Amino acid sequence: MCGIIAYKGPREAVPIVIEGLKKLEYRGYDSWGVASVSGKRIAVHKKVGKVGKAVSSEIRLKGNTAIAHTRWGTHGGITEKNAHPHLSCDGKYAVVHNGIVENYQELKKKLIGEGHKFVSESDTEVIVHLIEKEAGKGLKNAVQKVAGELKGRSAFVVMTAEGEIAASRKGSPLIAGKGNGEYYIASDIPAFLEHTNKVMYVDDNEMLVIEDSEIKFYSIATGKEIQKRTVEIDWKSESAEKGDYKHFLIKEIMEQKDTLWRAINQDESKIINVANEIKNAYGTFLVGCGTAGKVCMTGEYLFAKIAAKHLNHAIASEFPSYEPFLTSKTLMIAVSQSGETADVLEAIESAKSKKAKVISLLNVFGSTMMRVSDEFFIVNAGTEKAVVSTKATTAQLAVLTLLAYAAAGKLGEGKRLLLDTASAVNDMLNPRYEEHIRKLAERLRSNENIYIIGRSLNYPMALEAAIKIQETSYIHAEGFAGGELKHGPIALISKGTPCIALVANDHVKDETISNAMEIKSRGGYIIGISPENNDVFDYWIKVPDAGNASPIVNIIPIQILAYQLAVLKGLDPDMPRNLAKSVTVK
Ligand code: G6P
Repeated sequence: MCGIIAYKGPREAVPIVIEGLKKLEYRGYDSWGVASVSGKRIAVHKKVGKVGKAVSSEIRLKGNTAIAHTRWGTHGGITEKNAHPHLSCDGKYAVVHNGIVENYQELKKKLIGEGHKFVSESDTEVIVHLIEKEAGKGLKNAVQKVAGELKGRSAFVVMTAEGEIAASRKGSPLIAGKGNGEYYIASDIPAFLEHTNKVMYVDDNEMLVIEDSEIKFYSIATGKEIQKRTVEIDWKSESAEKGDYKHFLIKEIMEQKDTLWRAINQDESKIINVANEIKNAYGTFLVGCGTAGKVCMTGEYLFAKIAAKHLNHAIASEFPSYEPFLTSKTLMIAVSQSGETADVLEAIESAKSKKAKVISLLNVFGSTMMRVSDEFFIVNAGTEKAVVSTKATTAQLAVLTLLAYAAAGKLGEGKRLLLDTASAVNDMLNPRYEEHIRKLAERLRSNENIYIIGRSLNYPMALEAAIKIQETSYIHAEGFAGGELKHGPIALISKGTPCIALVANDHVKDETISNAMEIKSRGGYIIGISPENNDVFDYWIKVPDAGNASPIVNIIPIQILAYQLAVLKGLDPDMPRNLAKSVTVK
C-alpha cells in the first residue's frame, strides 16, 4: 500500500505532486509528506491525516523536483516522524517507499553501528541511510546495490539535493510518465494522467535514473540498461467525481444500475474459450483477497451448482499451503479489483513458476496483474474510489456466473439470467428502497453485534456482508453458514441480537428459514433479505428472484445498509479507519 509520486521538469513541482498524491489516497491515508529540492537543499513537509484535507498555501516548498507519499503505516505509529519522505543524516537524500523492508532490523542495527542516526521507527528509513552509505559509487550504482540488499516486496524513489531522481521496483507497483521535458514516477497512472498519457512500465526487478533530463532503465540484477517503449494510454484523465452524491460509496452502489450490463458485455468467444480451459484444467484455483476472496468462494459454489465442476478457492495469503498442488496443467483464476494486491501477485508468481496458466478478473486496466497474466477479463465497473468495494464485486460475480454457465454449455441461458438481473437491480435501486434500508440502519446503529447467515451461494455472501458492515460501521459483524450456527455461534444469540438471513428461492431456502427460526426462538431479531416475505422475518428487505444470480442481488441491500450505518454514526464511508483500497504489502 502507500502511494508514491515524483516529478522532475521545468514546472513548480510541489503542487503537481500534491495533486497526484490526492489521486493515490486510496492506497493509504493515515499521513502524508512531500520533499522538494531548491538551491541544492532538500526541504520536507509532513502531516498526519489525509492529504485531501491539505491546504496548499500551508505548503511553502519550492523547486522543480519533488517526491511525495501517502502512507498506510506498517512499521511505526501514525506520526509525522514516521511519515515519508525520510532523509539521510546529511540531508542530501530523501526517500519515499511502498512495501516492507523485511530485513530492516538487521540493516538498521548495522547502520547504527556505523554511526547513522535514525529519527523514525519506519522500516523505510534504512533505505535512505543505505543510499547515503553507497552514494560515493554514483546514484545508479547506489540504488542498484541498495535494491539488491532489501528483502520483501517494495518500490522506492530517491531524490538527491542535486535534483536527481532514481527509483527501484521489486514486487510493488511503479510506473513512469513522460511529459514535455518532464518525468513523473508514481505508484499508479491516475496520479499523473492529467499531465501526460505517455507511460513507461517499470517491470519487477528494474530500476531507473533521471539525470540531465534523460530517463534510463536498468536491470537491478545486472545493472545493464533496458530499452523501454513509451505506451500511449487511451484513458481520459481520472475524472471520477461524486456528482450529486455525498459520498463515493453511495454513488458506486447506485452505479450498479449500469455496471452489471457492462460486466456482462464480454467477448463471448473469449468467455467460451476460458470456460473450456476451466473444464479441461487439471485443478483450478480461484484466488483473491478480502471481498475478492469472497467472490472466489462464491465462484466455487457457482461452478459446482451450474457446471458440476469442482474449482478450489483460496485466500491468496493462504495460497502457499496449496503450492505443492501446482503443475503445468493447473489453472489459476485471480480475482482482483485493483490488480495490484501483493498476496495475489505472489500466488500468480508461484503459479507461473510451475508453468500453470493464469487468467485474471480485474477492474483496473493496465494493472500489474493484467500484464503478468496469460489472459484477463476487465469487469468494467469503472473507477471504484470508495475503499469499500461494491460495484466491482457484483461485476466480478457477474463475470464468474457467465463463465460457469459457459462451462455448462449454457452461455445463452446465463446471459439472459444476468440481463434480467441487471434490469431488476435497476428497478430495485430507488429512493424508497434506500429509505426502507435507512430505517433498518436506525434500528441497528447502536447494536454491538450483527450476525449474517446464508447457505450455498449465499454463504460466501454472508461473509462478504460481514466485511461490509465491519468496514463502514465498526460494528462487530460475523457471517456464518446457516447450518453451522448450532455448532457454536448460536450461544451468542440473546434477546434482540440482530441476525440477517440471506434467503434465495433455491434448494436451501427451507433450511435457511429453519436456521432463522432457531435464532428467533432464542430471542434473535431476524432481518430477511429474500424475494418473499416470511413469518420468521421481523424486518423484510425484498430482492428480485434472481436464481443463480442471487449473490448479486442479496449483497446490494447490505451495501446500502453499510453505507447508511456509516452516515448515521457520523463515520467516513469512503475512507474507513485503518483501511486502504489497494493492499500492496503482504
Ligand atoms: C482491500 C480492499 C478490499 C478488497 C481487497 C482486495 O482490503 O479494501 O475492498 O477486496 O483489498 O483488493 P483487490 O484490489 O485485489 O480486489
